[in-house]
Amino acid sequence: MPITSSDFTYVTQIVRQRSSIDLQPGKEYLVESRLAPLARAMGGDLGALVSRLRQGDERLSESVVDALTTNETSFFRDARPFDTFVDHLLPDVMKTSTTRQITIWSAACSSGQEAYSLAMLLQDWMTKNPGWTARIHGTDISPKMVERARAGKFSQIEVNRGMRAPFLVRYFEQVGRDWVISKQLRDMCRFERGNLAQPPIGVPQSDIVFLRNVLIYFDIETKRAVLSNVRKVLRPGGFLILGGAESTLNLDGAFQRTELGKAVVFRHTGGAA
Ligand SMILES: C[S@@+](CC[C@H](N)C(=O)[O-])C[C@H]1O[C@@H](n2cnc3c(N)ncnc32)[C@H](O)[C@@H]1O
Repeated sequence: MPITSSDFTYVTQIVRQRSSIDLQPGKEYLVESRLAPLARAMGGDLGALVSRLRQGDERLSESVVDALTTNETSFFRDARPFDTFVDHLLPDVMKTSTTRQITIWSAACSSGQEAYSLAMLLQDWMTKNPGWTARIHGTDISPKMVERARAGKFSQIEVNRGMRAPFLVRYFEQVGRDWVISKQLRDMCRFERGNLAQPPIGVPQSDIVFLRNVLIYFDIETKRAVLSNVRKVLRPGGFLILGGAESTLNLDGAFQRTELGKAVVFRHTGGAA
């Protein structure tokens, strides 16, 4: 049975309140297909699920938001920002940092592939640049994704997508059918739950922020709020990396669009929005 218009509106309000994800009319098919397994697991249909939501079932609300986040990711996704990271951003941080510690925020980290891709590159870089340390802070709104990222365990299919073969050999151990990232790299990363639309709590002052493929899910006001939150932790002179379809243009004047190598990055000028 298709979702009723009032149930659709109710679900989209819950999702917006809790994650700021903007589900406009026309996304009924998405809500139906993502919530159908939850409804089946409860032994009812979508109507019954929404009735329980209306009664204020907190755990169910969380599961609904979780089901409606899109967690698509992969190791070294889109490749170019990672090349620019090594060829341009790390040398810049080396010149400008006063601490010999590089800090990166992987915002909307999903199951952690982006953070671990950066950790692999940083491990190689630190071998060539002794005396430097690195830490990566990953956050995501989905508790399930944060748990997965912390576990650092990936399927064969996941490592087949984008993983560079020498890194697989060097940094993973095969356990049964899965691949587990080395403790050394896991120790470099920390994963916490966090909503980008709210002021960042516990996120360290960062040299570089990766915020890719998530602004597309927000309306303009939320995009502005998220970028303003990024500025609270990204040091002036630091770099913001967005997804290929995303920009700060007309949203936040404190970022300067710059092409470095084959990727576009946004430099925090330290100015006002
Ligand atoms: C499409 S994935 C992108 C993952 C990764 N950044 C990448 O590009 O491969 C989007 C992620 O954003 C997360 N997300 C959605 N809304 C969020 C919010 N308000 N705060 C934090 N994370 C959010 C989702 O849970 C999901 O894991």
